Amino acid sequence: MQLRIMSFRCVLLLIAAAAATTANAHNVTHMLAKHPDFSTFNHYLTTTHLADEINRRRTITVCAVDNAAMNELLSKHYSLYTLKNILSLHVFADYFGAKKLHQITKSSTTTSSLFQATGEADGTSGYVNITDMKGGRVGFTPVDSDADQPMATFVKSIEELPYDIAVIQISHILSSPEAEAPTAGPGDTNLTVLMARQGCKAFSDLITADGAADTFAQSVEGGLTIFCPSDEALAAFAPTYKNLTADGKTSILLYHGVPIYYSLGMLRSSNGLMNTLATEGAKKYDFTVQNDGNEVKLKTKIVTAAIKGTLINEDPLAVYKIDKVLLPKELFKAAPPAPAPKPAKSAKAKAAKGDDDADSPGPAGDDSAAADEESSNDGGGRFAGSGGFVTVCFCLLFGILTL
Ligand SMILES: *[C@@H]1O[C@H](CO)[C@@H](O)[C@H](O)[C@H]1NC(C)=O
Ligand SMILES: *[C@@H]1O[C@H](CO)[C@@H](O)[C@H](O)[C@H]1NC(C)=O
Ligand SMILES: *[C@@H]1O[C@H](CO)[C@@H](O)[C@H](O)[C@H]1NC(C)=O
Ligand SMILES: *[C@@H]1O[C@H](CO)[C@@H](O)[C@H](O)[C@H]1NC(C)=O
Repeated sequence: MQLRIMSFRCVLLLIAAAAATTANAHNVTHMLAKHPDFSTFNHYLTTTHLADEINRRRTITVCAVDNAAMNELLSKHYSLYTLKNILSLHVFADYFGAKKLHQITKSSTTTSSLFQATGEADGTSGYVNITDMKGGRVGFTPVDSDADQPMATFVKSIEELPYDIAVIQISHILSSPEAEAPTAGPGDTNLTVLMARQGCKAFSDLITADGAADTFAQSVEGGLTIFCPSDEALAAFAPTYKNLTADGKTSILLYHGVPIYYSLGMLRSSNGLMNTLATEGAKKYDFTVQNDGNEVKLKTKIVTAAIKGTLINEDPLAVYKIDKVLLPKELFKAAPPAPAPKPAKSAKAKAAKGDDDADSPGPAGDDSAAADEESSNDGGGRFAGSGGFVTVCFCLLFGILTL
């Protein structure tokens, strides 16, 4: 009971914290709207959804180019998906205001761009060298750029909110062969072929045989994120899969799809419960997304899987490789409970949840093993925009408890 009250207070504090943070948040579209020379660049930040990604982040630099430079880029008739890759190379995951640009230690530094951070780029592409040159000039060179391209240089600062966001003008579009490589639109993507070619052949075969592949394909248009278990993960799971009923098989396959598009950046900043394609009324078939440093973890009551790679990330479709098969509590028993004393709320929570799935091989989802997860869902998961709020919440909760 005491814990409930604390949780409730915690939620109130969280809401207050969230409101305060929202007030400070930047809006790159709004910042650039005051500068008509950059209207084309601004327009494409919106249509590629990069603006959302930029607004979600802190400590970020946007290298804008003027309308003339954008028109030159547009004359090459890249697809929107390729344009997104190119423009994401112009957003750095660090703060470089004018002052910092002119005072780079050792005159040169390498920074990572969103092209790198979203998992689109291989190897060193997606990194950009920033160099202080003679006469106070600052040059920007993508690490994988062709040497014959004109070097983009710093022109001026457009807007700065130290050390949150810097919007600066550079002279040219940053050029990188990998960012410019043709990218097929998600509508043309053959999901099963895509998975089979990138280490998820076993999962691809299962969804084809089961017919779940059609459900996945039909969901792409409205936004879809698939977490496909690697071939190694599925090999270990095959005997258990064979034992499931036909319904159970379809459900566990659909459990690996979420009917919303999530880039890796969005997943990193959206901790909490997620419904899946298997969700149907009382059969929740949900799981929790949680950040662990820079790694994204998916937690069910039974297993925790980590994202190990990106097969495709093009709004409205993202496919990630994970290292374990996600086991829903609707189909599997939880791991043996930890030998901790059961909190009183456990029994109540279990009763409230109701275990109404006939497929279930036993009393699924023992709550004591999952008690941590429960309490963080009460307080943090649904409300928190980022892990930071959860931390704040627990600090405050701790403070209250010790009073
Ligand atoms: C950002 O600013 C633009 C233009 O002022 C506005 O249309 C948009 O709704 C804003 N976005 C958010 C998330 O506030
Ligand atoms: C980028 O910087 C690194 C380290 O200073 C250097 O080794 C590399 O050659 C530079 N690449 C380009 C394209 O300037
Ligand atoms: C995907 O490719 C496979 C193999 O070429 C083919 O059998 C299947 O029909 C394709 N699926 C779609 C939706 O085009
Ligand atoms: C499959 O079901 C059979 C019969 O219920 C059981 O003996 C066997 O251990 C199960 N295998 C796995 C891998 O769950």
